[in-house]
Amino acid sequence: STDARLVVISNRVAVPKARGAAGAQGGLAGALHSALKSRKGLWFGWSGEESGTGRTGNIATQTNDGVTTATIDLSQSDIEEYYNGYANSTLWPLFHYRLDLAKYERETGKGYERVNERFAELVTPLLEDDDVVWVHDYHLIPLGERLKSRGCKNRIGFFLHIPWPATRLFVSLPYHERLVRTMLHYDLVGFQTQEWLDSFLHYCRTELGADVDEGTGEVTLDGRTTIARAYPIGIDWDHFSSLGQSKEAWQAEQRLNDSTRGRTAMIGVDRLDYSKGLPERLDGISRFFDQHPERTRDLVFVQIAPPSREDVDSYQQIRATLEQKAGQINGARSEVDLVPVRYVNRGYTHSELFGFFRASKIGLVTPLRDGMNLVAKEYIAAQDPEDPGVLILSRFAGAAGQMQDALLVNPHSPDDLAHAIRIALDMPLEERKERYNSLIGTVQDDNVQVWTRNFLADLDSSRD
Ligand code: G6P
Repeated sequence: STDARLVVISNRVAVPKARGAAGAQGGLAGALHSALKSRKGLWFGWSGEESGTGRTGNIATQTNDGVTTATIDLSQSDIEEYYNGYANSTLWPLFHYRLDLAKYERETGKGYERVNERFAELVTPLLEDDDVVWVHDYHLIPLGERLKSRGCKNRIGFFLHIPWPATRLFVSLPYHERLVRTMLHYDLVGFQTQEWLDSFLHYCRTELGADVDEGTGEVTLDGRTTIARAYPIGIDWDHFSSLGQSKEAWQAEQRLNDSTRGRTAMIGVDRLDYSKGLPERLDGISRFFDQHPERTRDLVFVQIAPPSREDVDSYQQIRATLEQKAGQINGARSEVDLVPVRYVNRGYTHSELFGFFRASKIGLVTPLRDGMNLVAKEYIAAQDPEDPGVLILSRFAGAAGQMQDALLVNPHSPDDLAHAIRIALDMPLEERKERYNSLIGTVQDDNVQVWTRNFLADLDSSRD
């Protein structure tokens, strides 16, 4: 029933203190916190810390905002093999279509299975009969199967926050069958968009020979049925829009406005990740300045990019690439009183981001591939309805499906980006309002509470 306790299990439970800035956290942590706040829930996962020797297996519990968190530390080798390794050097690049960056190593695969097993071992004694269990994201794909093999009878759902790649790409993963077979032990598996769901169902049909009912999402293999559906995640509209009233948001808006001295601010906020299309974005901006040198004085680009997963090679490389590109544009285009690109490697609170978004007449969200992307939704949520800014959105973000009235672009094309920037800069108020009025509907209505409700309702009825 809907009164059952909700137990959420994810790799990341809370943002580590050192990076306690909203911009660094990605969609998952914020969304889950909202989902749990309204229920008496338990949230289990990694603390983000490395365990000292001999201290593994300790569960630290804490209750704030009505949410009880239970966290464990991981050993150095667990972090290296499971988090930096299999999750973020194998699955993350592959699922974001970056076969060129994906590494396949036996040791990290073993670490991944070991940590999933450990999660199952430590969570099992915390579970009560009526609990509804909801597992999140690519770090914990095999967890449901691990829990069930320990006798867990609870309903267990899984939600993937990132894309599911096309079958032809996915099969390059060694032991791909084994991984997907574990997913078919969940009662319900959710994806952000129809596109990712279709890829998953295609895989199940063609590679596993499962029986797939496209209409109901039922996937049957070896006599067991799992339901697979799409549930596009949203923002916590009530909470986020209320931040607009805060002094912090207002001050942030003033601060950015004062600093641009009449120029149009264009903003991007992304974890520093190669999936976000940041070098391509800078190439597009550079192309715009090449084509319209007279407009250098009209536009200032603010890129907020808090570093992420800094122990992984590909992340160190993307950081170096961006420093170089931002430096090049500024070297070529700056004047003594003018710097066109402000590249900022830190996070800000959600209130501050609200203010920055509102002060920015253009929002640039141009990932090469993204499960959903909540920055696109937050940018729209922060706009002044009487004078809204323009969202430039990658057609490869999951959010593009719901946000067709943004300026949709191909982020690989500098010409396309440059063109969209020019259109956005010159867009008349009337058209900006029309686009905003259409976009704000989905941001407001398809919010995180609706997402949670829809997923859990289907999980509740999954065995009927
Ligand atoms: C994405 C993933 C999340 C992850 C977040 C931040 O949104 O889907 O699972 O928590 O990035 O990344 P991190 O590695 O810092 O948890």
